[in-house]
Amino acid sequence: MSQTKQAFEKHVLCIGAGYVGGPTMAMIAAKCPTYKVTVVDINEARIAAWQTDELPIYEPGLLEVVQEARGRNLFFSTDVEAGIKEADIIFVSVNTPTKTFGRGAGKAADLQFWEKTARQIRECSTSSKIVVEKSTLPVRTAEAMARILNWGEKATDIHFEVLSNPEFLAEGTAIADLKMPDRVLIGGAETPRGAAAVQDLVDLYAHWVPRERILTTNVWSSELSKLAANAMLAQRISSVNALSALCEATEADIDEVGRAIGSDSRIGPKFLRASVGFGGSCFKKDILNLVYLCEHYGLKEVASYWEQVVKINRYQRGRFVDRMITCMFNTVVGKKVAVFGFAFKADTGDTRESPAIYVCRELVDERAAVTVTDPKALPNAKRDLADIADQITWESDPYKAAEGAHAIAILTEWKEYAELNYERIFEVMEKPAFVFDGRNILDAEKLHRIGFNVYPIGKAPKTHIGEESEI
Ligand code: UDX
Ligand code: ADP
Repeated sequence: MSQTKQAFEKHVLCIGAGYVGGPTMAMIAAKCPTYKVTVVDINEARIAAWQTDELPIYEPGLLEVVQEARGRNLFFSTDVEAGIKEADIIFVSVNTPTKTFGRGAGKAADLQFWEKTARQIRECSTSSKIVVEKSTLPVRTAEAMARILNWGEKATDIHFEVLSNPEFLAEGTAIADLKMPDRVLIGGAETPRGAAAVQDLVDLYAHWVPRERILTTNVWSSELSKLAANAMLAQRISSVNALSALCEATEADIDEVGRAIGSDSRIGPKFLRASVGFGGSCFKKDILNLVYLCEHYGLKEVASYWEQVVKINRYQRGRFVDRMITCMFNTVVGKKVAVFGFAFKADTGDTRESPAIYVCRELVDERAAVTVTDPKALPNAKRDLADIADQITWESDPYKAAEGAHAIAILTEWKEYAELNYERIFEVMEKPAFVFDGRNILDAEKLHRIGFNVYPIGKAPKTHIGEESEI
Protein backbone atom coordinates (compact mmCIF):
# COMPACT_ATOMS: atom_id res chain seq x y z
CA MET A 1 0.00 0.00 0.00
CA SER A 2 2.70 2.47 0.95
CA GLN A 3 4.25 2.05 -2.49
CA THR A 4 1.07 3.02 -4.35
CA LYS A 5 0.34 5.72 -1.77
CA GLN A 6 3.52 7.48 -2.86
CA ALA A 7 3.00 6.85 -6.56
CA PHE A 8 -0.39 8.57 -6.82
CA GLU A 9 -1.28 12.14 -5.96
CA LYS A 10 -4.68 11.16 -4.52
CA HIS A 11 -6.62 8.01 -3.77
CA VAL A 12 -10.23 7.98 -4.88
CA LEU A 13 -12.63 5.20 -3.91
CA CYS A 14 -16.13 4.57 -5.15
CA ILE A 15 -18.43 2.27 -3.21
CA GLY A 16 -20.98 0.80 -5.64
CA ALA A 17 -20.02 -0.33 -9.16
CA GLY A 18 -23.38 0.26 -10.85
CA TYR A 19 -24.71 2.41 -13.68
CA VAL A 20 -23.51 5.58 -11.95
CA GLY A 21 -20.35 4.52 -10.08
CA GLY A 22 -18.78 2.48 -12.89
CA PRO A 23 -18.90 4.97 -15.78
CA THR A 24 -18.24 8.02 -13.57
CA MET A 25 -15.11 6.51 -12.02
CA ALA A 26 -13.88 5.28 -15.39
CA MET A 27 -14.08 8.88 -16.65
CA ILE A 28 -12.36 10.30 -13.56
CA ALA A 29 -9.55 7.75 -13.93
CA ALA A 30 -9.17 8.47 -17.63
CA LYS A 31 -9.02 12.23 -17.06
CA CYS A 32 -6.94 12.22 -13.86
CA PRO A 33 -4.02 9.82 -14.47
CA THR A 34 -2.25 10.95 -11.30
CA TYR A 35 -5.19 9.82 -9.13
CA LYS A 36 -5.65 6.18 -8.23
CA VAL A 37 -9.32 5.28 -8.65
CA THR A 38 -10.67 2.10 -7.08
CA VAL A 39 -14.26 0.93 -7.49
CA VAL A 40 -15.54 -1.58 -4.94
CA ASP A 41 -18.78 -3.51 -4.70
CA ILE A 42 -20.12 -6.37 -2.60
CA ASN A 43 -21.43 -8.00 -5.76
CA GLU A 44 -18.56 -10.29 -6.82
CA ALA A 45 -20.00 -11.09 -10.25
CA ARG A 46 -20.28 -7.39 -11.04
CA ILE A 47 -16.69 -6.70 -10.05
CA ALA A 48 -15.46 -9.72 -12.02
CA ALA A 49 -17.28 -8.42 -15.10
CA TRP A 50 -15.73 -4.94 -14.75
CA GLN A 51 -12.34 -6.66 -14.95
CA THR A 52 -13.15 -8.17 -18.36
CA ASP A 53 -14.24 -6.67 -21.68
CA GLU A 54 -17.77 -7.99 -21.08
CA LEU A 55 -18.73 -5.08 -18.83
CA PRO A 56 -21.74 -5.58 -16.54
CA ILE A 57 -23.60 -2.67 -18.15
CA TYR A 58 -24.05 -1.69 -21.78
CA GLU A 59 -23.13 1.91 -22.46
CA PRO A 60 -21.82 3.13 -25.82
CA GLY A 61 -18.14 4.14 -25.62
CA LEU A 62 -17.70 2.93 -22.03
CA LEU A 63 -15.40 0.01 -22.81
CA GLU A 64 -12.87 2.29 -24.53
CA VAL A 65 -12.73 4.62 -21.50
CA VAL A 66 -12.38 1.66 -19.11
CA GLN A 67 -9.64 0.12 -21.25
CA GLU A 68 -7.71 3.38 -21.29
CA ALA A 69 -7.37 3.48 -17.51
CA ARG A 70 -7.90 -0.07 -16.21
CA GLY A 71 -4.76 -1.48 -14.63
CA ARG A 72 -3.06 1.93 -14.91
CA ASN A 73 -4.99 3.94 -12.33
CA LEU A 74 -8.42 2.31 -12.42
CA PHE A 75 -9.02 -0.81 -10.32
CA PHE A 76 -12.07 -2.90 -9.45
CA SER A 77 -12.24 -4.90 -6.23
CA THR A 78 -14.52 -6.51 -3.67
CA ASP A 79 -12.26 -5.51 -0.80
CA VAL A 80 -14.32 -2.61 0.52
CA GLU A 81 -12.35 -2.35 3.75
CA ALA A 82 -8.93 -2.00 2.11
CA GLY A 83 -10.37 0.51 -0.30
CA ILE A 84 -11.74 2.65 2.53
CA LYS A 85 -8.44 2.59 4.45
CA GLU A 86 -6.46 3.81 1.48
CA ALA A 87 -8.86 6.50 0.23
CA ASP A 88 -8.64 10.28 0.51
CA ILE A 89 -11.96 10.84 -1.27
CA ILE A 90 -14.81 8.29 -1.10
CA PHE A 91 -17.74 8.48 -3.50
CA VAL A 92 -20.80 6.62 -2.23
CA SER A 93 -22.80 5.28 -5.14
CA VAL A 94 -24.80 2.43 -3.66
CA ASN A 95 -28.41 1.81 -4.58
CA THR A 96 -31.18 3.76 -2.84
CA PRO A 97 -34.40 2.16 -4.11
CA THR A 98 -37.88 3.22 -3.03
CA LYS A 99 -38.90 1.70 0.30
CA THR A 100 -41.23 -1.27 -0.05
CA PHE A 101 -42.05 -1.64 3.63
CA GLY A 102 -42.93 0.33 6.76
CA ARG A 103 -43.16 4.12 6.98
CA GLY A 104 -43.01 5.87 3.65
CA ALA A 105 -43.39 2.58 1.74
CA GLY A 106 -43.74 3.28 -1.98
CA LYS A 107 -42.36 6.81 -1.66
CA ALA A 108 -39.41 7.33 0.66
CA ALA A 109 -35.92 6.14 -0.21
CA ASP A 110 -34.71 2.91 1.34
CA LEU A 111 -31.52 4.01 3.02
CA GLN A 112 -30.34 0.69 4.43
CA PHE A 113 -27.49 0.16 1.92
CA TRP A 114 -26.43 3.74 2.28
CA GLU A 115 -26.40 3.65 6.08
CA LYS A 116 -24.48 0.36 6.15
CA THR A 117 -21.90 2.00 3.93
CA ALA A 118 -21.63 5.05 6.19
CA ARG A 119 -21.05 2.84 9.21
CA GLN A 120 -18.51 0.75 7.37
CA ILE A 121 -16.57 3.86 6.33
CA ARG A 122 -16.49 4.98 9.92
CA GLU A 123 -15.34 1.62 11.26
CA CYS A 124 -12.59 1.00 8.71
CA SER A 125 -11.10 4.48 8.50
CA THR A 126 -7.75 5.30 10.04
CA SER A 127 -7.44 8.79 8.55
CA SER A 128 -9.63 11.79 7.70
CA LYS A 129 -11.58 11.65 4.45
CA ILE A 130 -13.91 13.48 2.15
CA VAL A 131 -17.11 11.48 1.68
CA VAL A 132 -19.10 12.34 -1.43
CA GLU A 133 -22.80 11.51 -1.87
CA LYS A 134 -23.20 10.37 -5.43
CA SER A 135 -26.41 8.34 -5.08
CA THR A 136 -29.61 10.36 -5.20
CA LEU A 137 -30.68 10.75 -1.62
CA PRO A 138 -33.35 12.59 0.30
CA VAL A 139 -32.54 16.19 1.13
CA ARG A 140 -30.60 16.51 4.41
CA THR A 141 -29.08 13.04 4.10
CA ALA A 142 -25.58 14.50 3.99
CA GLU A 143 -26.23 15.92 7.42
CA ALA A 144 -27.28 12.49 8.72
CA MET A 145 -24.24 10.94 7.11
CA ALA A 146 -21.93 13.49 8.74
CA ARG A 147 -23.52 12.67 12.11
CA ILE A 148 -22.96 8.92 11.70
CA LEU A 149 -19.42 9.42 10.49
CA ASN A 150 -18.30 11.98 13.03
CA TRP A 151 -20.03 10.45 16.03
CA GLY A 152 -18.13 9.15 19.05
CA GLU A 153 -14.47 9.01 20.01
CA LYS A 154 -13.04 8.50 16.51
CA ALA A 155 -14.25 11.97 15.68
CA THR A 156 -11.62 13.47 17.96
CA ASP A 157 -8.68 12.41 15.84
CA ILE A 158 -10.15 11.92 12.36
CA HIS A 159 -12.74 13.94 10.55
CA PHE A 160 -15.13 13.18 7.69
CA GLU A 161 -16.29 16.05 5.53
CA VAL A 162 -19.46 15.16 3.62
CA LEU A 163 -20.17 16.67 0.20
CA SER A 164 -23.09 16.28 -2.15
CA ASN A 165 -22.13 15.79 -5.79
CA PRO A 166 -25.18 14.45 -7.65
CA GLU A 167 -24.68 12.75 -10.98
CA PHE A 168 -26.71 14.05 -13.91
CA LEU A 169 -25.60 11.58 -16.59
CA ALA A 170 -28.31 9.91 -18.62
CA GLU A 171 -27.97 6.27 -19.63
CA GLY A 172 -27.14 5.62 -23.25
CA THR A 173 -25.26 8.94 -23.42
CA ALA A 174 -23.29 8.54 -20.19
CA ILE A 175 -19.87 8.91 -21.76
CA ALA A 176 -20.72 12.10 -23.67
CA ASP A 177 -22.47 13.48 -20.55
CA LEU A 178 -19.45 12.73 -18.39
CA LYS A 179 -16.94 14.10 -20.90
CA MET A 180 -18.77 17.40 -21.35
CA PRO A 181 -21.34 17.84 -18.59
CA ASP A 182 -23.76 20.81 -18.70
CA ARG A 183 -22.67 21.35 -15.12
CA VAL A 184 -21.02 19.62 -12.19
CA LEU A 185 -22.72 20.42 -8.91
CA ILE A 186 -20.86 20.30 -5.62
CA GLY A 187 -22.56 21.06 -2.33
CA GLY A 188 -20.54 21.53 0.83
CA ALA A 189 -20.77 22.91 4.34
CA GLU A 190 -20.19 26.65 4.64
CA THR A 191 -17.25 26.20 7.03
CA PRO A 192 -13.47 26.36 6.42
CA ARG A 193 -13.26 22.55 6.35
CA GLY A 194 -16.28 22.36 4.06
CA ALA A 195 -14.79 24.93 1.68
CA ALA A 196 -11.47 23.05 1.58
CA ALA A 197 -13.21 19.77 0.74
CA VAL A 198 -15.28 21.46 -1.98
CA GLN A 199 -12.03 22.84 -3.43
CA ASP A 200 -10.51 19.32 -3.52
CA LEU A 201 -13.46 18.05 -5.53
CA VAL A 202 -13.44 21.13 -7.79
CA ASP A 203 -9.73 20.38 -8.49
CA LEU A 204 -10.60 16.82 -9.46
CA TYR A 205 -13.28 17.82 -11.99
CA ALA A 206 -11.23 20.79 -13.23
CA HIS A 207 -8.91 18.22 -14.89
CA TRP A 208 -11.40 18.28 -17.78
CA VAL A 209 -14.54 20.29 -16.96
CA PRO A 210 -14.37 24.07 -17.67
CA ARG A 211 -14.33 25.88 -14.34
CA GLU A 212 -17.45 27.93 -15.13
CA ARG A 213 -19.44 24.71 -15.41
CA ILE A 214 -18.54 23.62 -11.89
CA LEU A 215 -21.21 25.04 -9.59
CA THR A 216 -20.77 25.11 -5.84
CA THR A 217 -23.71 25.48 -3.45
CA ASN A 218 -24.64 24.58 0.08
CA VAL A 219 -25.30 20.89 0.70
CA TRP A 220 -29.08 21.10 0.78
CA SER A 221 -29.39 23.07 -2.44
CA SER A 222 -27.24 20.47 -4.14
CA GLU A 223 -29.30 17.56 -2.81
CA LEU A 224 -32.58 19.23 -3.72
CA SER A 225 -31.35 20.27 -7.18
CA LYS A 226 -30.91 16.66 -8.17
CA LEU A 227 -34.48 15.77 -7.21
CA ALA A 228 -35.77 18.98 -8.78
CA ALA A 229 -33.92 18.45 -12.08
CA ASN A 230 -35.33 14.96 -12.50
CA ALA A 231 -38.81 16.06 -11.42
CA MET A 232 -38.83 18.88 -13.97
CA LEU A 233 -37.56 16.64 -16.77
CA ALA A 234 -40.20 14.02 -15.98
CA GLN A 235 -42.82 16.75 -15.73
CA ARG A 236 -42.07 17.83 -19.31
CA ILE A 237 -42.65 14.29 -20.52
CA SER A 238 -45.88 13.90 -18.55
CA SER A 239 -47.05 17.28 -19.86
CA VAL A 240 -46.44 16.26 -23.45
CA ASN A 241 -47.94 12.82 -22.86
CA ALA A 242 -51.06 14.39 -21.33
CA LEU A 243 -51.34 16.55 -24.45
CA SER A 244 -50.88 13.47 -26.62
CA ALA A 245 -54.17 12.09 -25.27
CA LEU A 246 -55.88 15.32 -26.30
CA CYS A 247 -54.24 15.14 -29.74
CA GLU A 248 -55.65 11.64 -30.25
CA ALA A 249 -59.11 12.89 -29.31
CA THR A 250 -58.86 15.82 -31.74
CA GLU A 251 -57.02 16.12 -35.02
CA ALA A 252 -53.89 17.69 -33.64
CA ASP A 253 -50.51 15.98 -34.04
CA ILE A 254 -48.29 15.89 -30.95
CA ASP A 255 -45.06 16.16 -32.98
CA GLU A 256 -46.34 19.31 -34.64
CA VAL A 257 -47.50 20.71 -31.31
CA GLY A 258 -44.12 19.77 -29.78
CA ARG A 259 -42.25 21.55 -32.56
CA ALA A 260 -44.43 24.62 -32.23
CA ILE A 261 -44.07 24.95 -28.47
CA GLY A 262 -40.41 23.88 -28.48
CA SER A 263 -39.51 26.75 -30.84
CA ASP A 264 -40.22 29.15 -28.01
CA SER A 265 -36.70 29.72 -26.72
CA ARG A 266 -38.05 29.84 -23.18
CA ILE A 267 -39.41 26.30 -23.52
CA GLY A 268 -36.77 24.79 -25.82
CA PRO A 269 -37.08 21.74 -28.08
CA LYS A 270 -35.58 18.95 -25.95
CA PHE A 271 -37.46 16.36 -23.90
CA LEU A 272 -40.79 16.91 -25.61
CA ARG A 273 -41.10 13.51 -27.28
CA ALA A 274 -44.45 11.86 -26.55
CA SER A 275 -44.05 8.22 -25.59
CA VAL A 276 -45.64 5.21 -23.95
CA GLY A 277 -44.25 6.69 -20.73
CA PHE A 278 -40.95 7.41 -19.06
CA GLY A 279 -38.95 4.73 -17.30
CA GLY A 280 -35.52 4.44 -15.75
CA SER A 281 -34.23 4.12 -12.24
CA CYS A 282 -34.45 7.83 -11.40
CA PHE A 283 -37.54 9.73 -12.48
CA LYS A 284 -40.25 7.91 -10.56
CA LYS A 285 -38.04 7.26 -7.56
CA ASP A 286 -36.85 10.86 -7.29
CA ILE A 287 -40.31 12.37 -7.73
CA LEU A 288 -41.79 10.09 -5.06
CA ASN A 289 -38.90 11.06 -2.85
CA LEU A 290 -39.76 14.72 -3.44
CA VAL A 291 -43.42 14.00 -2.73
CA TYR A 292 -42.50 12.32 0.54
CA LEU A 293 -40.31 15.24 1.50
CA CYS A 294 -43.10 17.74 0.80
CA GLU A 295 -45.57 15.67 2.81
CA HIS A 296 -43.08 15.51 5.65
CA TYR A 297 -42.98 19.30 5.75
CA GLY A 298 -46.80 19.52 5.57
CA LEU A 299 -46.79 20.89 2.00
CA LYS A 300 -49.74 18.83 0.77
CA GLU A 301 -50.50 20.88 -2.36
CA VAL A 302 -46.88 20.79 -3.47
CA ALA A 303 -46.74 17.04 -2.88
CA SER A 304 -49.86 16.35 -4.92
CA TYR A 305 -48.64 18.63 -7.73
CA TRP A 306 -45.53 16.49 -8.22
CA GLU A 307 -47.34 13.20 -7.63
CA GLN A 308 -49.50 13.99 -10.63
CA VAL A 309 -46.42 13.61 -12.88
CA VAL A 310 -46.15 9.96 -11.86
CA LYS A 311 -49.91 9.44 -12.15
CA ILE A 312 -49.97 10.72 -15.73
CA ASN A 313 -47.11 8.38 -16.56
CA ARG A 314 -49.10 5.42 -15.26
CA TYR A 315 -52.16 6.66 -17.15
CA GLN A 316 -50.18 6.91 -20.38
CA ARG A 317 -49.00 3.27 -20.17
CA GLY A 318 -52.52 2.08 -19.40
CA ARG A 319 -53.94 4.18 -22.22
CA PHE A 320 -51.49 2.57 -24.64
CA VAL A 321 -52.65 -0.93 -23.75
CA ASP A 322 -56.33 0.11 -23.78
CA ARG A 323 -55.89 1.49 -27.27
CA MET A 324 -54.25 -1.74 -28.45
CA ILE A 325 -57.14 -3.80 -27.16
CA THR A 326 -59.86 -1.49 -28.47
CA CYS A 327 -58.31 -1.27 -31.93
CA MET A 328 -57.83 -5.01 -32.15
CA PHE A 329 -61.59 -5.53 -31.95
CA ASN A 330 -61.72 -5.47 -28.15
CA THR A 331 -59.82 -8.68 -27.59
CA VAL A 332 -56.22 -9.84 -27.70
CA VAL A 333 -56.89 -13.32 -26.31
CA GLY A 334 -54.61 -15.78 -28.07
CA LYS A 335 -53.30 -13.09 -30.42
CA LYS A 336 -49.57 -12.86 -30.87
CA VAL A 337 -48.17 -9.44 -29.98
CA ALA A 338 -44.53 -8.75 -30.85
CA VAL A 339 -43.03 -6.29 -28.39
CA PHE A 340 -40.16 -4.42 -30.06
CA GLY A 341 -37.90 -3.07 -27.34
CA PHE A 342 -37.85 -3.72 -23.62
CA ALA A 343 -35.14 -1.29 -22.41
CA PHE A 344 -36.48 1.90 -20.80
CA LYS A 345 -34.78 3.88 -23.58
CA ALA A 346 -32.53 3.19 -26.55
CA ASP A 347 -28.79 2.42 -26.24
CA THR A 348 -29.00 0.74 -22.87
CA GLY A 349 -29.72 -2.75 -21.59
CA ASP A 350 -31.28 -1.26 -18.45
CA THR A 351 -34.94 -2.10 -17.90
CA ARG A 352 -35.57 -0.54 -14.51
CA GLU A 353 -39.11 0.92 -14.42
CA SER A 354 -39.36 0.37 -18.17
CA PRO A 355 -42.90 0.91 -19.49
CA ALA A 356 -42.42 -2.44 -21.27
CA ILE A 357 -42.64 -4.26 -17.94
CA TYR A 358 -46.14 -2.90 -17.33
CA VAL A 359 -47.33 -3.22 -20.92
CA CYS A 360 -46.20 -6.87 -21.14
CA ARG A 361 -47.83 -7.74 -17.83
CA GLU A 362 -51.13 -6.20 -18.89
CA LEU A 363 -51.04 -7.97 -22.25
CA VAL A 364 -50.35 -11.29 -20.54
CA ASP A 365 -53.26 -10.61 -18.16
CA GLU A 366 -55.41 -10.14 -21.26
CA ARG A 367 -54.12 -13.52 -22.44
CA ALA A 368 -52.22 -12.26 -25.44
CA ALA A 369 -49.30 -14.40 -26.67
CA VAL A 370 -46.42 -11.98 -26.06
CA THR A 371 -43.06 -12.25 -27.82
CA VAL A 372 -40.37 -9.83 -26.67
CA THR A 373 -37.37 -8.76 -28.70
CA ASP A 374 -34.62 -6.29 -27.77
CA PRO A 375 -31.01 -5.94 -28.94
CA LYS A 376 -29.54 -5.48 -25.44
CA ALA A 377 -32.13 -5.90 -22.72
CA LEU A 378 -33.35 -9.52 -22.99
CA PRO A 379 -31.36 -10.79 -19.96
CA ASN A 380 -32.81 -8.04 -17.73
CA ALA A 381 -36.27 -8.46 -19.27
CA LYS A 382 -36.24 -12.16 -18.37
CA ARG A 383 -35.47 -11.26 -14.76
CA ASP A 384 -38.18 -8.57 -14.62
CA LEU A 385 -40.83 -10.98 -15.87
CA ALA A 386 -39.46 -14.12 -14.19
CA ASP A 387 -42.82 -14.89 -12.56
CA ILE A 388 -44.61 -14.98 -15.93
CA ALA A 389 -41.65 -16.07 -18.07
CA ASP A 390 -43.43 -19.27 -19.14
CA GLN A 391 -46.10 -17.12 -20.80
CA ILE A 392 -43.62 -15.08 -22.83
CA THR A 393 -41.46 -15.93 -25.82
CA TRP A 394 -38.02 -14.31 -26.05
CA GLU A 395 -36.57 -13.69 -29.49
CA SER A 396 -33.46 -11.75 -30.42
CA ASP A 397 -34.40 -11.42 -34.11
CA PRO A 398 -37.23 -8.90 -34.70
CA TYR A 399 -38.15 -10.52 -38.02
CA LYS A 400 -38.75 -13.83 -36.28
CA ALA A 401 -40.60 -12.09 -33.44
CA ALA A 402 -43.03 -10.69 -36.01
CA GLU A 403 -43.81 -14.06 -37.64
CA GLY A 404 -47.51 -14.81 -37.21
CA ALA A 405 -48.04 -11.72 -35.03
CA HIS A 406 -51.28 -9.74 -35.12
CA ALA A 407 -49.56 -6.65 -33.78
CA ILE A 408 -46.21 -5.03 -33.17
CA ALA A 409 -45.80 -2.70 -30.20
CA ILE A 410 -42.74 -0.43 -30.36
CA LEU A 411 -41.76 0.23 -26.76
CA THR A 412 -38.13 1.37 -27.10
CA GLU A 413 -36.84 3.85 -29.68
CA TRP A 414 -33.97 1.62 -30.91
CA LYS A 415 -32.72 3.09 -34.19
CA GLU A 416 -32.68 -0.33 -35.82
CA TYR A 417 -36.45 -0.65 -35.44
CA ALA A 418 -36.94 2.37 -37.70
CA GLU A 419 -34.67 0.74 -40.28
CA LEU A 420 -36.26 -2.72 -40.55
CA ASN A 421 -37.73 -3.99 -43.80
CA TYR A 422 -41.42 -3.61 -43.02
CA GLU A 423 -42.53 -5.07 -46.38
CA ARG A 424 -40.85 -8.29 -45.28
CA ILE A 425 -42.42 -8.05 -41.82
CA PHE A 426 -45.89 -7.38 -43.24
CA GLU A 427 -45.64 -10.55 -45.35
CA VAL A 428 -45.16 -12.80 -42.32
CA MET A 429 -47.78 -11.21 -40.02
CA GLU A 430 -51.43 -12.11 -39.51
CA LYS A 431 -53.85 -9.76 -41.21
CA PRO A 432 -55.09 -7.21 -40.45
CA ALA A 433 -51.61 -6.27 -39.20
CA PHE A 434 -51.33 -3.61 -36.50
CA VAL A 435 -48.43 -1.42 -35.42
CA PHE A 436 -48.65 0.52 -32.17
CA ASP A 437 -45.75 2.91 -32.20
CA GLY A 438 -45.17 3.85 -28.56
CA ARG A 439 -42.18 6.00 -29.50
CA ASN A 440 -43.24 7.64 -32.77
CA ILE A 441 -40.13 6.43 -34.58
CA LEU A 442 -41.75 4.81 -37.61
CA ASP A 443 -42.82 6.38 -40.88
CA ALA A 444 -46.56 5.89 -40.39
CA GLU A 445 -47.41 6.95 -43.93
CA LYS A 446 -45.04 4.39 -45.45
CA LEU A 447 -46.24 1.59 -43.20
CA HIS A 448 -49.82 2.43 -44.04
CA ARG A 449 -49.01 2.17 -47.75
CA ILE A 450 -47.54 -1.28 -47.13
CA GLY A 451 -50.85 -2.32 -45.59
CA PHE A 452 -50.40 -1.86 -41.84
CA ASN A 453 -52.90 -0.25 -39.52
CA VAL A 454 -50.67 2.24 -37.73
CA TYR A 455 -51.34 3.82 -34.34
CA PRO A 456 -48.73 6.38 -33.31
CA ILE A 457 -48.90 8.26 -29.99
CA GLY A 458 -50.74 11.57 -30.08
CA LYS A 459 -51.66 11.44 -33.77
CA ALA A 460 -54.54 10.26 -35.87
CA PRO A 461 -54.17 6.56 -36.72
CA LYS A 462 -53.66 5.45 -40.30
CA THR A 463 -55.84 2.44 -40.87
CA HIS A 464 -57.42 0.32 -43.56
CA ILE A 465 -60.12 -1.03 -41.27
CA GLY A 466 -63.52 -0.29 -42.69
CA GLU A 467 -62.19 0.30 -46.21
CA GLU A 468 -63.78 -1.75 -48.95
CA SER A 469 -60.56 -3.49 -49.85
CA GLU A 470 -60.02 -4.50 -46.23
CA ILE A 471 -56.81 -6.40 -45.69
C1 UDX B 1 -32.38 10.74 -16.18
C2 UDX B 1 -31.87 12.17 -16.29
O1 UDX B 1 -31.96 12.62 -17.66
C3 UDX B 1 -30.44 12.27 -15.79
O2 UDX B 1 -30.00 13.63 -15.79
C4 UDX B 1 -30.35 11.71 -14.39
O3 UDX B 1 -29.01 11.70 -13.94
C5 UDX B 1 -30.90 10.28 -14.34
O4 UDX B 1 -32.24 10.26 -14.85
P1 UDX B 1 -32.07 8.51 -17.62
O5 UDX B 1 -33.15 7.95 -16.76
O6 UDX B 1 -30.83 7.71 -17.82
O7 UDX B 1 -31.61 9.95 -17.07
O8 UDX B 1 -32.68 8.78 -19.10
P2 UDX B 1 -33.49 9.96 -19.79
O9 UDX B 1 -32.86 10.23 -21.10
O10 UDX B 1 -33.70 11.11 -18.92
O11 UDX B 1 -34.89 9.26 -20.10
C6 UDX B 1 -35.78 8.86 -19.08
C7 UDX B 1 -37.05 8.32 -19.66
O12 UDX B 1 -37.81 9.33 -20.31
C8 UDX B 1 -36.83 7.24 -20.74
O13 UDX B 1 -37.76 6.20 -20.56
C9 UDX B 1 -37.07 7.98 -22.03
O14 UDX B 1 -37.47 7.14 -23.07
C10 UDX B 1 -38.18 8.93 -21.61
N1 UDX B 1 -38.30 10.13 -22.47
C11 UDX B 1 -37.27 11.02 -22.56
C12 UDX B 1 -39.49 10.38 -23.16
O15 UDX B 1 -40.45 9.59 -23.08
N2 UDX B 1 -39.60 11.52 -23.91
C13 UDX B 1 -38.58 12.43 -24.02
O16 UDX B 1 -38.74 13.44 -24.71
C14 UDX B 1 -37.37 12.16 -23.32
P1 ADP C 1 -27.05 3.14 -9.70
O1 ADP C 1 -27.91 3.15 -10.95
O2 ADP C 1 -27.44 4.21 -8.71
O3 ADP C 1 -25.59 3.15 -10.00
P2 ADP C 1 -26.95 0.28 -9.20
O4 ADP C 1 -27.99 -0.58 -8.56
O5 ADP C 1 -26.62 0.09 -10.64
O6 ADP C 1 -27.39 1.79 -8.90
O7 ADP C 1 -25.58 0.15 -8.39
C1 ADP C 1 -25.45 0.19 -7.01
C2 ADP C 1 -24.37 -0.82 -6.60
O8 ADP C 1 -24.09 -0.63 -5.22
C3 ADP C 1 -24.75 -2.29 -6.79
O9 ADP C 1 -23.82 -2.92 -7.66
C4 ADP C 1 -24.67 -2.87 -5.35
O10 ADP C 1 -24.15 -4.19 -5.30
C5 ADP C 1 -23.72 -1.90 -4.67
N1 ADP C 1 -23.82 -1.88 -3.21
C6 ADP C 1 -24.93 -1.82 -2.45
N2 ADP C 1 -24.62 -1.83 -1.13
C7 ADP C 1 -23.26 -1.89 -1.04
C8 ADP C 1 -22.31 -1.92 0.04
N3 ADP C 1 -22.70 -1.86 1.30
N4 ADP C 1 -20.99 -2.00 -0.27
C9 ADP C 1 -20.58 -2.03 -1.55
N5 ADP C 1 -21.42 -2.00 -2.61
C10 ADP C 1 -22.74 -1.92 -2.37
